[in-house]
Amino acid sequence: AAAPMLTKLQQDCATPLPVLRNVAASMSDDIRAGLAVDGGSDLKMILSYVDSLPTGDEKGLFYALDLGGTNFRVLRVELGGKDKRVIAIESDQVSIPQELMSATSEELFDFIASALANFAHKGGNFSGNKGEIGFTFSFPVKQTSIDSGILIKWTKGFAVSGTAGKDVVACLNEAMDRKGIDMRVSALVNDTVATLAGARYWDDDVMVAVILGTGTNACYVERMDCIPKLQGEFSPSRRTIVNLEWGAFSKGLPLTVFDRDMDAASINPGEQIFEKTISGMYLGEIARRALLHMAEEGSLFGKSVPEKLSMPFVLGTPDLSTMQQDSTEDLHTVGSVLYNVAGVESNLISRKIVLEVCDTIVKRAARLAGAGIVGILQKIEEDTKDAIFGKRTVVAMDGGLYERYPQYRRYLKEAVAELLGPETSQNIVIEHSKDGSGIGAALLAATNSKYG
Ligand code: BG6
Ligand code: GLC
Repeated sequence: AAAPMLTKLQQDCATPLPVLRNVAASMSDDIRAGLAVDGGSDLKMILSYVDSLPTGDEKGLFYALDLGGTNFRVLRVELGGKDKRVIAIESDQVSIPQELMSATSEELFDFIASALANFAHKGGNFSGNKGEIGFTFSFPVKQTSIDSGILIKWTKGFAVSGTAGKDVVACLNEAMDRKGIDMRVSALVNDTVATLAGARYWDDDVMVAVILGTGTNACYVERMDCIPKLQGEFSPSRRTIVNLEWGAFSKGLPLTVFDRDMDAASINPGEQIFEKTISGMYLGEIARRALLHMAEEGSLFGKSVPEKLSMPFVLGTPDLSTMQQDSTEDLHTVGSVLYNVAGVESNLISRKIVLEVCDTIVKRAARLAGAGIVGILQKIEEDTKDAIFGKRTVVAMDGGLYERYPQYRRYLKEAVAELLGPETSQNIVIEHSKDGSGIGAALLAATNSKYG
């Protein structure tokens, strides 16, 4: 009885070429509308104030803070100047304690400042003096300059009180004052922007950066004369990085009842719909809802419904990936993941269905992400003929989902190739840029150094 339910799910999640084309075209349209005026579309098209990219000449010791993924990271990067030498990188990472995600703003920023102080101390900077920081803050921020910006709202399950509407650099500075740390933020950047800057350091052809992790987002290098809301006269050669905040995109997505129910039960209903369909925080939960339905209405796991399967978020996206890597004949790994995380007893038939469910959700997600990327590329190409399709162009990718889900990577690349066709897609290089964001933030701190 579960088989027809699977077929229905597959139909509802289908992403044939016309659906992808439509998503790509809507993404381009939304980009344009968001560049025209603030509030012009679902996409905020946030100006990053990063209008000079790393050259390779950056020099000195810089710190980077990275808040917004699964882990909070502190890095120290020593840049050697000419020849693009990164002399040394050291880093610490801590997973964000669950309770901090719904703490007060002071508590969250005190935690960050303490981690920074400990780290600086270990590196011999005992008073935490004169350090310059590139602060990667991976949430929608209305930038007011390269080193200030107001949090618009939290995403990805963060619900810290008292930060929205405030300058997050000021929040960090106040926390550093409370801890007696004398360091300053020279650059405040989104993780996509840091990733682009980091990847560009090594490769001049990088034009777009995409994060696929807990959340998802993209940014790209835009011509200033193509940004009406900047309200200025610019020569076509002047460029800046624009952060789409594409998690908020919503047009033309094939959604199911499971997506709608998950959204309704979330802390931000109606918001971040693209993010909820394609990013790591949500894929396991969509699959869990589909499986629960099949267990309840289609006896997928026999007569009784395993109790744990009713718990929101028990099934994580990493679990889906682990199951999809199973190559044993009896799908042994699938069986043990189901048993260990959801208390589910399964046989070969139900395991096969579970795998199909995972594949359906992941394929839809990855193909839609691919369509989003093509939407950005097409927008750039339409404004500047042959700017990218006629030559090598790199899309820098990062985030745990992209890094640790081989099927996701494959489906994404397939969709991009289908949309662009064989000739053009040869020129588009979709490349993992591991931890580009750490180096990227440090590089931008260097470019915008206050000590000169
Ligand atoms: C990391 C980047 O690799 O991926 C971060 O350096 C980014 O800047 C993160 O925020 C996303 O990670 P996660 O944990 O959400 O997969
Ligand atoms: C969320 C944030 C965005 C970030 C993305 C990836 O969508 O709003 O700023 O870039 O997650 O971490």
